[in-house]
Amino acid sequence: MNDVPLFAPTDEHKAVRAACRDLCRDKVAPHAADVDRNATFPEAAYDALRAADFHAPHIPETFGGVGADALATAIVIEEVARACASSSLIPAVNKLGTMPLLLAGSEELNKRYLTPVAAGEAMFSYCLSEPEAGSDAAAMRTRAVRDGDGWRLNGVKRWITNAGVSDYYTVFASTDPDRGARGISAFVVEKTDPGVTFGTPEKKLGIKGSPTCEVYLDDVRLPASRLVGVEGEGFKLALRTLDHTRVTIAAQAVGIAQGALDYAVGYVKERRQFGQAVADFQGVQFMLADMATKLEAARQLTYAAAARSERSDPDLTFFGAAAKCFASDMAMEVTTDAVQLLGGYGYVQDYPVERMMRDAKITQIYEGTNQIQRVVLARQVLK
Ligand code: CAA
Repeated sequence: MNDVPLFAPTDEHKAVRAACRDLCRDKVAPHAADVDRNATFPEAAYDALRAADFHAPHIPETFGGVGADALATAIVIEEVARACASSSLIPAVNKLGTMPLLLAGSEELNKRYLTPVAAGEAMFSYCLSEPEAGSDAAAMRTRAVRDGDGWRLNGVKRWITNAGVSDYYTVFASTDPDRGARGISAFVVEKTDPGVTFGTPEKKLGIKGSPTCEVYLDDVRLPASRLVGVEGEGFKLALRTLDHTRVTIAAQAVGIAQGALDYAVGYVKERRQFGQAVADFQGVQFMLADMATKLEAARQLTYAAAARSERSDPDLTFFGAAAKCFASDMAMEVTTDAVQLLGGYGYVQDYPVERMMRDAKITQIYEGTNQIQRVVLARQVLK
């Protein structure tokens, strides 16, 4: 591994964290329980994030964005997730959907599609998975065939985060099934393109404020200009994208865990049993010590991965997978312990930690299950 020490947050990063934390305390956290209970998109959070330019901070200034680096973007996602995991998917999925364009899109394509996202006028989702192609993403059946000077797409994409609320979609489709992974290409599809429809939102365990739906592509006709990058190189583009965005899932996991730890710390200091604060029991203190240690280790690994993402370092594949895997496993442990520290109160919806535990679970699953992360990691170690 390269020795890359430059991942410590600068004063600017610290200012971003402070501003985002204040905003989330005032405008995101108050809606988190309702968004979860009613499974509604967090409109108020989206408005607040847009007003502060935290909705898609990674978009470069050339396209009207604020040009936050990968670490600042991770910090924003972490802080939003600390308040409301569903809302953190606004900046996270905007990065996921647009990353293929940032990595390989033409100037013209990027200008057309990234500018509205930067302005907060549109959101962007990423369509890789299918009913029969989850971990084995290259087994996709969605087809794009040439049609005059453009393309015609048919297929079904599944587990698409923010489907229906996003205006634009990066869709991966097979343009040459005989070539397998080397015959996949990426396209921009608009929500309003004729032939695009959405399934009923999934009923989920967590992140209930972020709709997850199937996306149906029924003879969707696209001009040639909607191809992202080079024909046949879409699968590599999909995996390169995930190298970068697994860092954002790690940041989300760190934020969810921090929210749960903060709440549990406040609770054990207040709650009295056997004539003393629960926090005075050494058994509780040891739990808090382990939670805080694991959380900080995950945060440092996430920031180290963000530094690699910023520079597209060769070992980003390892760091992105390691950070996502480690941080999401940590978030599941820390949020479960937070529920335990609250006892019966942790198990009911009057307190936020059961929501955080449910929200944490998805971070071990999406953008590649943690079993897939370990496949990626082992390949890197053995190569
Ligand atoms: N960057 C660029 N290229 C890469 C790469 C990377 N990180 N990793 C592999 N490649 C290249 C390989 O070199 C190979 O290239 P050649 O054809 O030139 O040899 C090509 O890509 C295919 O690689 P593999 O043979 O390793 O591919 P595979 O079929 O064995 O799959 C995998 C590898 C790691 C299992 C991959 O399929 C994977 O990551 N699966 C998980 C998919 C995933 O994360 N899905 C999440 C969907 S997004 C989401 O969840 C968000 C949402 O909205 C819900």
